[in-house]
Amino acid sequence: MRSLINILDLSVEEIDGLLNVADDIIANPVKYSEVCRGKKLATLFFEPSTRTRLSFEAAMYELGGHVLGFSDAGSSSATKGESVADTTKMVNCYADIIAMRHPKEGAPLVASMHSKIPVINAGDGGHNHPTQTLTDLLTIRRKKGKLSGFTIGFCGDLKFGRTVHSLIQALSRYENIKIVLISPDELKLPSYVKKDVLQKNGIEYIQTTDLESVLPELDVLYMTRVQKERFLSEEEYIRLRDSYILTREKLVKNAKNDLAILHPLPRVNEISVDVDDDPRACYFEQALNGKFVRMALIMKLLGLKAD
Ligand code: NCD
Repeated sequence: MRSLINILDLSVEEIDGLLNVADDIIANPVKYSEVCRGKKLATLFFEPSTRTRLSFEAAMYELGGHVLGFSDAGSSSATKGESVADTTKMVNCYADIIAMRHPKEGAPLVASMHSKIPVINAGDGGHNHPTQTLTDLLTIRRKKGKLSGFTIGFCGDLKFGRTVHSLIQALSRYENIKIVLISPDELKLPSYVKKDVLQKNGIEYIQTTDLESVLPELDVLYMTRVQKERFLSEEEYIRLRDSYILTREKLVKNAKNDLAILHPLPRVNEISVDVDDDPRACYFEQALNGKFVRMALIMKLLGLKAD
């Protein structure tokens, strides 16, 4: 039994294999429609979600399986004081695989230690979000044809943005990636990610507060939402939330023609809606890719294949 808690739980070969299966699912969906017949996915979401939970559910349905779970901690026994360990042991009686989102860093890891069935981390606090990373990698590979030799800018809330932390970890294992970190001083990438990931792996990176000056160098731009729910002060959030707003005008003036703009979504103000029709905007396609890559992951963790 295997779980996916951190993106580094998967080798580069395994990630490439998952992306290949996702590509095949996109090309031949019918081949996969019965693979999970009789299997059940439990979605345990202690924190709000639209895309991640619905794409997990859609993924399991499209594999011919079933889904049970909750989308709100308030409707679970967590409100009665049940521990993550006990909830996990219960769910082991009812499902074959778990996808868990939790506001506390490390909660899915704890769950995996008390589970006989695979646990997938669907986002733990400001820490990690490995299935979003698989989504991001699939989107970049389908747009650029490769996962090496490009410059990627991460813009916005690099401090609390768990999708950023996981994607940087994943990219640190590919060749010739340059990273541009764009954030206000208050929302810089945590120093543990800088030291343990970027510096340890000799990744070339720069930090800046100015998006427009670096935009012309970027092949991929990963925009993020300022993570309101992780701020201790509302005032601080309000001061920082509109630090960056990508507009069509800035793109036309400064960006490469083949730039790929990603965003894990939800978006608030950081990408103006007039960018949505630009061929460089990939974020809605990225959300769709999330379903295919989660189908591939569920199959892998359950040890199931299409043929
Ligand atoms: C992200 C998350 O939950 O971390 N959303 C998602 O899963 N697609 C990003 C965010 O909430 O800003």
